[in-house]
Amino acid sequence: MVEVRDEGQGVKLFRVQRTDRRAFEEFTAGAHVDVTGPTGVTRQYSLCGPPKDRTRMTFAVKREASSRGGSVALHDRVVAGDELTLSAPRNLFPLQLRAAHHVLVGAGIGITPLLSMAHELHRLGRAFALHYFVRDASTAAFLPQLRAAPFAAAVTVHDGLARAAQGEVLEGVLGRLGEDEHVYTCGPGGFMDRVVEIGARTLPADNLHREHFTARDVSGLASDAFEVELDTGEVFEVPADRSIVEVLAAHGIDVDTSCREGICGTCVLPVLSGVPDHRDHCLTAREKAANDQMATCVSRSRSARLVLELE
Ligand code: FES
Repeated sequence: MVEVRDEGQGVKLFRVQRTDRRAFEEFTAGAHVDVTGPTGVTRQYSLCGPPKDRTRMTFAVKREASSRGGSVALHDRVVAGDELTLSAPRNLFPLQLRAAHHVLVGAGIGITPLLSMAHELHRLGRAFALHYFVRDASTAAFLPQLRAAPFAAAVTVHDGLARAAQGEVLEGVLGRLGEDEHVYTCGPGGFMDRVVEIGARTLPADNLHREHFTARDVSGLASDAFEVELDTGEVFEVPADRSIVEVLAAHGIDVDTSCREGICGTCVLPVLSGVPDHRDHCLTAREKAANDQMATCVSRSRSARLVLELE
């Protein structure tokens, strides 16, 4: 059962309670859920409420002009009292609580996972700063809540900055961080690239964390054909325009999937030999470098054959 509220700048806030009124399972800051809207399209949205509040799940949806049925349907067809289908929360963007200080850097709707992180860091009494880049502070989503939040003193709003000025601010924020500080960023891809690139000048890669708010366009991921061998010895050709998951399904072999966009990690299988061409957003840089697992819904192969273990 859902409550819907306008949150400014083409953003709607959805607060969902279970229809049986029971508590949701606990989630951790940075988690997201799969939301299936009225058209049957499933999309991932970050949870933005306090993680300890198990009575409801809160997520925000920006109306995307390029929506393929996800955000527009949620905006136009869902009203208060409707029912939505939500998955259990999953977290691919967790806080690293061993850090001495946390720097949260968001732009636009990318503020959402950072909100739940800020609530949690404040609850735990941990040191953090939240930098929120907006186009126009007079209409930006969540600004009234941030100004009224108990952690408002940790929030800095950067209003309407041009790209060059944005870079200068990011250099000021990220340029002098120490090895016990971690940075988390969410927003448009180019913005996160910039945060990571500037942060990487002083911090190791493991201290930089980015959310993948929008799935890549999977249709653009085709490449050369390759072979997949299963631990059973069966071998299948994966053509340039089909995924491993699709090829296996066509032969009656079902791999569990959810997003099919390389975000959720459900379809990850162990790689016994061969070199994957990682195209997902769910494995960490270190996991990708190890080449011993891969997201079979989007990733492909750099070797002529991959050997996979079916779990
Ligand atoms: S099904 Fe979600 S990463 Fe593959």
